[in-house]
Amino acid sequence: MLEVIILAAGQGSRMQSSLPKVLHTLAGQPLVLHVLEGARKLGAQQIHVVVGHGAEAVEATVSAPDVQCHLQAEQRGTGHAVQQAIGACQAESTVLVLFGDVPLIAEQTLREVVSAAKTGVAMLSANLENPAGYGRVERDPQGQFIAVVEEQDATDEQRRLTEINTGVLASNAGALKAWLARVDNQNAQSEFYLPDVLGLARLDGEAVTVVCSDNVFDTLGVNSPQQLEQLERLHQASLADQLMTAGVLISDRSRLDIRGRLECGRDVRLDVNVVIEGEVSLGNEVSIGANCILCNAQIGAGARILPFTHIEGAEVQSGAVIGPYARLRPGSVIGEQAKVGNFVEVKNTHLGKGAKANHLAYLGDADIGDLSNVGAGTITCNYDGANKHRTTLGDAVFVGSNSTLVAPLTIDSGGFVAAGSTITDDVKADQLAVARGRQRNVEGWQRPAKPEETD
Ligand code: UD1
Ligand code: CA
Repeated sequence: MLEVIILAAGQGSRMQSSLPKVLHTLAGQPLVLHVLEGARKLGAQQIHVVVGHGAEAVEATVSAPDVQCHLQAEQRGTGHAVQQAIGACQAESTVLVLFGDVPLIAEQTLREVVSAAKTGVAMLSANLENPAGYGRVERDPQGQFIAVVEEQDATDEQRRLTEINTGVLASNAGALKAWLARVDNQNAQSEFYLPDVLGLARLDGEAVTVVCSDNVFDTLGVNSPQQLEQLERLHQASLADQLMTAGVLISDRSRLDIRGRLECGRDVRLDVNVVIEGEVSLGNEVSIGANCILCNAQIGAGARILPFTHIEGAEVQSGAVIGPYARLRPGSVIGEQAKVGNFVEVKNTHLGKGAKANHLAYLGDADIGDLSNVGAGTITCNYDGANKHRTTLGDAVFVGSNSTLVAPLTIDSGGFVAAGSTITDDVKADQLAVARGRQRNVEGWQRPAKPEETD
């Protein structure tokens, strides 16, 4: 049985933030949740999270049936942190230790480390051009592992070593518990170091396997806002690359942000500065213009989303055209071939097949039939200050510009509203509704005179 211990008690002081470090987001998701996701992919049966700084908030974030949290009230080192959880592990389990601030280790790498732990203890190392700040892997002249030496405790010669400890370690739980009990804090930081168990294992004659990784994501951790931004850009570039491999045409991988899950059909195009949040699906031949934000949206085949459009919690059916500068809010469904133009806000509204709202309108809590046309400046008055009401338009309704539709209201199919009307009563099929003051032209009208100019 595999159990994973995630260390997430540290403060992350270099983030200069009141938010616990592991709750800072990468690709829209807290760092610690990326680590959890990684643990689940391995099929871990129990996941332990060691919490300390911001414990409540971290616990609330990771809370799940397969997750158990353990409080490390005082941060006395990584070894001490693992001790808080090791007692809750089954002695015969294999335990994998991960850091909550190293979020994107490849699944394959972790599998190798776990599998290497079958015959003893395993750790993950990497060779870095600039190993500063990391613990170094010390080997004997035959290349056999001796120990991990923290930078603060290292001699000048040891500091020149470029093989570093990533922090990932796997071992039998019972053995790990026994070694941890023997770790002391006689070192430069007066901390209980987790990697010290590797040196103890070796002294006990136990096999120590060092898996050396050459995947950058396996070592990149987050200690500062700069590192967070670097990792975000690398990750986004890699997500964009995967999409391109699947045939998506992306104008610039450095100007695409996926903060959730994106599913694409064939021949999808994404222009610059597109932000994807939550669950988004794009059908075949969909194009998303520059500067669009899509959050929890489904876009049907052939639909075109023109620049500067914001879509949240909405469905756009095939062939529809949205924008530029349109806003679709939750609960909206835009029918096939329909059009929503510039400065149109749509909320909780169904727009039928081929219907149009081309300019400057607010459509809230409405059902608009097929082929209806909503003129510029039309507003559904859906809110009376206390309750929301629906507006229902049948098929092929024509609403003239600058009309005010006071809900609850029904306009039957074929109804026609004259421009500038305030409609408060239902309109029957094929009626014309005019609700505005009649025009009066005053003959011989004298304009008011301006006062005489004085100095
Ligand atoms: C650690 C390793 C070092 C390795 C490096 C890789 C130790 C002693 N050193 O150093 O060999 O090269 O990671 O990034 O293990 N944490 C707790 N409780 C504590 C201390 C830490 O939960 O008391 C957590 C932190 O929140 C963090 C992780 O453990 O997620 C690593 O701690 P950190 O202090 O960043 O270790 P490093 O000094 O980077
Ligand atoms: Ca660290």
